[in-house]
Amino acid sequence: MRNTRYDDTPDPGRGAARGAALGAELAKPERYQELLRRVRGLLDDEADWLSSLANVAAAVYEWLPALNWAGFYLLRGDTLRLGPFQGRPACLTIAVGAGVCGTALQLGESQLVPDVHAYPGHIACDPRSRSEIVVPIRDATGRVVAVLDLDSDRLATFDEDDRQGLEALAEELATRVDWQRACTV
Ligand code: SME
Repeated sequence: MRNTRYDDTPDPGRGAARGAALGAELAKPERYQELLRRVRGLLDDEADWLSSLANVAAAVYEWLPALNWAGFYLLRGDTLRLGPFQGRPACLTIAVGAGVCGTALQLGESQLVPDVHAYPGHIACDPRSRSEIVVPIRDATGRVVAVLDLDSDRLATFDEDDRQGLEALAEELATRVDWQRACTV
């Protein structure tokens, strides 16, 4: 049984969000490097897309501060379908081109939203969300197959460092997850 991969190093993400000092010295790029290191460990030798994405959602949610939601929407047919996540229950489906997630998928470009109320068409799954970042995920062939969505209950939580860090994470997932199965209707 492989159940020791996620070590018990103190977690700076949610601790920091609540004012604790743990890991508060980490700058964002370092925080993302550490997250990526942990995600690589979680994905090692794991073939099941559901287990992999569930653990990645949990790692992101634990490691990054000020989040109220973190998870995946998977492209199934022509619709985005809710995948593994952490946070409150969320919208089950999102049409391609709709909201921040559907736009990121359609354009194949990350969407950085400092104020969700100023984003036309934003879909409010959790009324506490104030800012959001959505990063498209491509499979090994380069096709956009999913998005990674992070919400924060604070304005302007995400910046270019987040975009770069999350895009590096998405790149890692491209070849480490069985997207064909994940995206099967
Ligand atoms: N706000 C997203 C919907 C998904 S939730 O934030 C979890 C959007 O506009 O696409």
